Amino acid sequence: MFKQAIIDLISKKTSLRKEDLLNLIEIPPNSELGDYSFPCFILSKKEKKAPNLIAEHLVKQLHNKLPKEIETISSSGPYLNFFINKKLLAENILKINSKFGKTNLGKKRTICIDFSHPNIGKPMHIGHIRSTIIGDSLMRIYNFLNYNPIGINYLGDVGLHIGKLIVAYELWLDKNALKKDPVTELLRLYVKFCGEEKSEIREGMEEEFQDNEWTNKAKEKIKLLELGDKKAHKIWDEIRESSLEGFKKIYDILDVNFDDWRGQSNFSIKGKDIVALALEKGLAKRENDGAVYVLLNEKDPDSKKYVLRSNETASYITQDLGAAVERYKKYKFDKMIYVVDFRQEDHFKALFKILEILKYDFIPKMHHLKFGTIKFGNEIFATREGNVILLEDVLNKTIDKAKDEIKKRQTKGDAEKVGVGAIKYIILKNEPIKDVQFSWESALSFEGNTGPYLQYSYARASSIIKKAKNKNFNKSKIKINKLEKSEELLIKKISDFPEIVINAGEKMNPSLIANYSHELCQLFNEFYHNCPVLKTKDKAQEAFRLRLIDSFRTCLQNALHLLGIEVMDEM
Ligand code: ARG
Repeated sequence: MFKQAIIDLISKKTSLRKEDLLNLIEIPPNSELGDYSFPCFILSKKEKKAPNLIAEHLVKQLHNKLPKEIETISSSGPYLNFFINKKLLAENILKINSKFGKTNLGKKRTICIDFSHPNIGKPMHIGHIRSTIIGDSLMRIYNFLNYNPIGINYLGDVGLHIGKLIVAYELWLDKNALKKDPVTELLRLYVKFCGEEKSEIREGMEEEFQDNEWTNKAKEKIKLLELGDKKAHKIWDEIRESSLEGFKKIYDILDVNFDDWRGQSNFSIKGKDIVALALEKGLAKRENDGAVYVLLNEKDPDSKKYVLRSNETASYITQDLGAAVERYKKYKFDKMIYVVDFRQEDHFKALFKILEILKYDFIPKMHHLKFGTIKFGNEIFATREGNVILLEDVLNKTIDKAKDEIKKRQTKGDAEKVGVGAIKYIILKNEPIKDVQFSWESALSFEGNTGPYLQYSYARASSIIKKAKNKNFNKSKIKINKLEKSEELLIKKISDFPEIVINAGEKMNPSLIANYSHELCQLFNEFYHNCPVLKTKDKAQEAFRLRLIDSFRTCLQNALHLLGIEVMDEM
């Protein structure tokens, strides 16, 4: 609201539009230079005048026409600096409630988010964690901004691994074990199949072209599935159900939800229809062996991207073509975000290019949100399969370690909330594209830029509020005298929150909110260190500080909610 006052002011005196000013106004690197600043370069181009002269001129024009939100302005070089009215800001911050930061930016426009997408029949592993947690945070952010986010879990429910599982299921299934622990039993079946197949695999040859007894059995099952064979389908359904049960257990722990569970198999036919249409229009070509391709670059005969296999079956990209078109038809999305590992960059570039060649006009709405690797460094980690780190194991181990930590510190606190918060936070504080270096020590520490530190700051604030419960501070009269520096900094930081959320949504980057939360807690802890709250004699000041602490709690709780991290009153 203070930024808005600045925007209104500048827009009155210049030719700049309010929408543009929103992105032009900056927060200076240090508070000596004001709370906001406006770089005059853009006007300098328009008016053909040096930017520092423009800044000086604006100060002269505006200094005696300032609205109540702005205390003073000054120029420094090409910048026009604004010092806002801190008391007024403080009054506003004391009034915030649980809606703080919510805006109607989205106007209910739809944003589809394709995230998590594990493979049926295989357990979720550490490779799924970033997509799951980043995707969920985006869902929360867009919801908060009043978009209509649609969570899509595009399950990997096709491919040779399914054929392998069906073979193994028929041969070796232990029904009781499946009932008790579906994930472990399916994994056992898959591993057993791979063990049998292993000695016959020809190194360096793609799976599709392997030609041995075991692989062929699996391919046979896939063919049966495609032909609609009842028995194969029944097993496939059972495998799917058991798998989903396992996934849902993890989604429950993580509190992650989806609106659309349609997997790849649902889009094979739609994808093939699109390919057929492209062939008809001459936008795709058929090879002698029957495979169909699109030239990604007209002038480059080597830029072929195959969209249909020679045996006429749909591949990964065929299904993605079908899914994209189908989703646009169903949801009329304003944005479609694929939260997928950076190693699939070429796949998505090709997908978007092909849709463009086929003249679908929603391409500018599609985004591949790439994320990097999660590295476990030197952590020793025993896994059930030997080479993959299972997500369930990581979660359980983190929760166990959180339990130990809580015991060691002799504090209260819910180990699941601490453990899950720690994992989510270490993932979200990193920009998606950067690699994450995971270690339990750095995730679970109660100090530094970690989830537990943030939760602990919240609990600390809660305990102060609890101690003051019978002081009725919400009703007492507030008198804002001169603010201490650390009060001022905390108030200003809280006031930044709405803009941070908007930025995080626009940039599809929850790390902005994560790191903001950390800075917010640092300022709170500094304030708490410098400003006595319950020891001060001045009752009006005490009430003011208590209410500020309450506002800090509200703001932090909202920020952490957007990261999917729960708070606790005691810890
Ligand atoms: N299940 C796929 C994999 O494991 C990722 C799916 C990503 N989403 C998509 N629409 N292609 O590689």
